[in-house]
Amino acid sequence: MCGIVGYVGPKPALTYLLEGLFRLEYRGYDSAGVAIQQGDAIAIRKKTGRVGQLSQLCQEQPIEGSTGIGHTRWATHGEPSDVNSHPHTGGNGEVVLVHNGVIENYASLRNELREQGYVFRTGTDTEVLAHLVAFELSEEIKMGADPSRTATNLKAVESALKRVKGTYGIAVLFRDNPGTLIAARLGSPLVVGIGKGEHFLASDASPLVGYTEEVVYLSDHEMAVLTADGMQLLHRDGGAQTPDVKVLEQASEDLDLGEFEHYMLKEIFEQPTTIENALRGRLDEDEATARFGGLNLDPQQLRRIDRIVLTACGTSWHAGLVGEYLIEEFARIPVEVEYASELRYRNPPMTDRTMIFAITQSGETADTLAAMRECKRKGHPTLAICNVVGSTIAREADGGIYLHAGQEVGVASTKAFTAQVTVLTLLALFLGRMRHLSYPAGKRIISHLQAMPDMLRRTLECHEQVKTIAEKYYGAENFLYLGRLYNFPVALEGALKLKEISYVHAEGYPAAEMKHGPIALVDEDTPSVFVVPKCNIYPKVMSNMEEIKARRGPVIAVACEGDDKVADIADDVIYVPPVDEYLQPLVTAVPLQMLAYHIALLRGCNVDRPRNLAKSVTVE
Ligand code: G6P
Repeated sequence: MCGIVGYVGPKPALTYLLEGLFRLEYRGYDSAGVAIQQGDAIAIRKKTGRVGQLSQLCQEQPIEGSTGIGHTRWATHGEPSDVNSHPHTGGNGEVVLVHNGVIENYASLRNELREQGYVFRTGTDTEVLAHLVAFELSEEIKMGADPSRTATNLKAVESALKRVKGTYGIAVLFRDNPGTLIAARLGSPLVVGIGKGEHFLASDASPLVGYTEEVVYLSDHEMAVLTADGMQLLHRDGGAQTPDVKVLEQASEDLDLGEFEHYMLKEIFEQPTTIENALRGRLDEDEATARFGGLNLDPQQLRRIDRIVLTACGTSWHAGLVGEYLIEEFARIPVEVEYASELRYRNPPMTDRTMIFAITQSGETADTLAAMRECKRKGHPTLAICNVVGSTIAREADGGIYLHAGQEVGVASTKAFTAQVTVLTLLALFLGRMRHLSYPAGKRIISHLQAMPDMLRRTLECHEQVKTIAEKYYGAENFLYLGRLYNFPVALEGALKLKEISYVHAEGYPAAEMKHGPIALVDEDTPSVFVVPKCNIYPKVMSNMEEIKARRGPVIAVACEGDDKVADIADDVIYVPPVDEYLQPLVTAVPLQMLAYHIALLRGCNVDRPRNLAKSVTVE
């Protein structure tokens, strides 16, 4: 949450800063701001609201200069307001900084700084950090250091950060040292882009696309000093580091809306391709198994595994639930799916044969990262299923599997979910073939997986029909989403999608379990969305549907093409192609994504930037 950008070079900084903030807006959009060095002062423009409003402000009050920093905010401490927007100023304006993260000991530091005469004007934890850097700078100056020297400013940042508890990604400008930007990270991501005679900074690689292809990801406790001509990388506790320069893999098409009105719809429609990409090169037809390049575990280690813990948050956690069913069915290995925010503070019994998978689109979710680190610290093999190449979790995991879904911009996850489920199916096949799964069974799974991109193309044909159904139900204030077995996690995910983007209350439940409480909510104004493709217990789900109808609850069903029986009971039916049970989540999730999208649109909500949410949750 919160996005940071920075620029040092010969060009007007504002162009990159604003464009970068637009691209990082998914990380938070409560307010936005920029600070640019103008001669011997630092000019600041900041405003509540979206980056577009900041851009408008910068047109009305132009700001020039070629060294600058910018920020788009997801509020943690202090309500969204102009004054609480970043950048924040320390001392008498000698320090200006932007911050992503949380300063946990801000209250005690603030008291201490107040006693030193520092005046606080905002409700943020970041202002404390700005004043703290200014205070440490004043201490350096008292000792005779020159504030126009980078070494002095670096020392001030270093000393301030040593006193801070919490997480940060920061970019700092010093009034008396123009043309220099200092960045540092602990827990919140930062990446430096190396240009020709210029340097860029960003919270993730997306702002750098089109500007440079050479990037350096900062690690925790690292600091970078950026000037037009150079980058110096240091460890916070002293000592120069050698930058590990990587080639940027992101493509600019990911950021192009093309024919679509919103990123969410574009990403829903990309799913046949993203599933194809997740499968590419990973199906071994000769051995009837899957293959992965980056697990970094030898077959003996994998054979030893007798328990798997999948840990994640949000939509990724739902993908984990599908993964649990898949791995237990194909590989007969017991699986637990843990909320990362719980796992990080629990101490569940795990043996040296337990393997951990962190599932994460962004690779930056603070809780998932912390849970992964805790398991790693205990010595468990810890792998990641991740979309963003070079993200913190991808880098810190012992190994893993990339989704290759391209950048997901919409805050509500869609294509990452189906890519995660696809990768988990491959993983289940792979682990299964090392154990009980027969060659013919492996072959069958491979051929079904190969057919999935086309099945997804066919599924997308329900779009117009879903739109019509959304028009009928968009006024409802409560929804139930019900499914069983592989479609229970899909019901949870369908309900989450609706909540996230349309602000309508929705609950996902195992269809039979609704008798134990949620059925009390059912009346003629509360639609139930049944995920009921043909499966082993199809008649049971149909009985659950009858139970809702008997209480006059409207029913929308997601069913297999050609299922007329369902049409006799449900008020509305969305048809998806018939696929094997274990692959159903890939097709049944799609109409639910579309339903949430259209209901949100009809209710006048911003589907790509829903209120209070952020795509990458880098605070716990
Ligand atoms: C946020 C996003 C969700 C996402 C969750 C986990 O809440 O809005 O879409 O599922 O974080 O994110 P991750 O990047 O770890 O999958």
